[in-house]
Amino acid sequence: MTAPDPADPTTTAAWARLAGLAETYEPDLRTSLTQSWVEHQTLRAGDLHVDLSKNLFDDGIDTTLLRLAEEVGVLARRDAMLAGERINVTEDRAVLHTALRLPADASLTVDGQDVVADVHEVLGRAYAFAERVRSGDWTGVTGKRIETVVNIGIGGSDLGPVMAYEALEPYRQEGLSCRFISNIDPTDAGQTLSGLDPETTLFIVSSKTFGTLETLTNARLCRAWLLDRLPAGADPAAAVAQHFVAVSTALDKVADFGIDPDNAFGFWDWVGGRYSMDSAIGLSLMVAIGPEHFADLLAGFHTMDEHFRTAPPASNVPLRMGLLNVWYVNFLGAHTHAVLPYAQLLHRFPAYLQQLTMESNGKSVRWDGEAVTYDTGEVFWGEPGTNGQHAFYQLIHQGTRLVPADFIAFAQPAYELKDGDTDVHELFLANFFAQTKALAFGSTADEVRAEGVAEELVSARTFPGNRPTTSIMAPALTPSVLGQLVALYEHITFVQGAVWGIDSFDQWGVELGKVLAQEIGPAVTGDAAVAAEQDPSTQSLIAYYRENRAR
Ligand code: F6P
Repeated sequence: MTAPDPADPTTTAAWARLAGLAETYEPDLRTSLTQSWVEHQTLRAGDLHVDLSKNLFDDGIDTTLLRLAEEVGVLARRDAMLAGERINVTEDRAVLHTALRLPADASLTVDGQDVVADVHEVLGRAYAFAERVRSGDWTGVTGKRIETVVNIGIGGSDLGPVMAYEALEPYRQEGLSCRFISNIDPTDAGQTLSGLDPETTLFIVSSKTFGTLETLTNARLCRAWLLDRLPAGADPAAAVAQHFVAVSTALDKVADFGIDPDNAFGFWDWVGGRYSMDSAIGLSLMVAIGPEHFADLLAGFHTMDEHFRTAPPASNVPLRMGLLNVWYVNFLGAHTHAVLPYAQLLHRFPAYLQQLTMESNGKSVRWDGEAVTYDTGEVFWGEPGTNGQHAFYQLIHQGTRLVPADFIAFAQPAYELKDGDTDVHELFLANFFAQTKALAFGSTADEVRAEGVAEELVSARTFPGNRPTTSIMAPALTPSVLGQLVALYEHITFVQGAVWGIDSFDQWGVELGKVLAQEIGPAVTGDAAVAAEQDPSTQSLIAYYRENRAR
């Protein structure tokens, strides 16, 4: 099977039809949101209950979006990805994060290699290591039990583990905590290391390439911090061996850093950085929540993969949500997409999704090298409810921009707390239901008048409604449900990229800044000749820095 060449989606019949539908479409959720529409538009994927009914579309738009997917070959590309074809053409790589969560008895051969066997071999070693740390069998060089694990990584080697560590707080082992250093701003390492005991601290250097400036700089800072502070007499090589492990695809570079190859956990070039939290990159999480819960997380990912692979198009949640996003971006003019978890434990989920979606779909050439003539990836952003309600919801309710929003909530709270007789989780969820309702139906001028509002304030107090939302609910935020949620967004991102004909798995757009930072470095430290080569604005900024740094 071969991945189809990218079709220019604008040349399809479905695209032309959607453009026509958008011109005449006048949403009115007050009349269109009937009982049967809700039943029809409420889908199930694993444990996720997904209500699409408050989106701005009708049956005709729905059918035409599915036809668009067919015409551009979204499902053929999905099958090519799952089979291990090299669909990441600009890096000439397979895209197989889904293989990271295949069960041990599955098999998938790529270039003559059974990748499932490889995945489970590393997973077994990582689980055994995690158990040793959790049980106290693995100690620091002075024989003390590990109490803090510090993950050093950035982007995909940081955001997934942090997000999941926060989300799965109830599953963490007591007496063992994780911290995360990502930014090259020395404040990050300074603050994170503050108060830690080197004898009980274990560092995990997580880097796919093991060549990332931030991560290697922070790893060296942490190594120096450790060696400076361990009791006198500790052998440096033994100390690094006991206090540093690594996760990478570049195991030779790990060894060069001084980390014992026995304490290195590999993964493969067919796992993109932002798709890697379920590989050994999740080692800090494995230590925190334990192999059993990590296995549940992987099973959750796999549940969603199977749904995406097998569910018919009309009830295929990632396909439907991805296509709705295309509808909003390309036909209704949306530039952004809000993700609003009504779950404090998901407070890093929007940040995680920013890398997943924007590093994947922030592209303007197709995978055949042709420039696109249509908009691609939207800006993803968000904050947990109800904090967002008191910050930016004003714009979503009454602003001039269309902001489709995903609301995510769980029936069971992580913490059962009462305010007198009031169950605070119920108060919280009432806000979730109220917001999606207010966004959908708004409040007409007549309704506002009927409340007795003075005529001159009626327009300011009117809510237009017809603001689209998707509601995603699950019984509880378990490891499995978290895996399902992450995989859902991975596949939504895939669907959008496939419609747009872009390579969602490269990230060339981050390279130029990295190269220039290396070039500019000497100017920042005082090399006048290099400073003089810079453009006038950069020269002036560096001069300002040097004047003020000296004070
Ligand atoms: O930001 C670019 C990027 O390559 C991301 O895709 C990746 O997740 C991050 O840097 C970190 O890369 P590495 O894991 O190789 O250190």
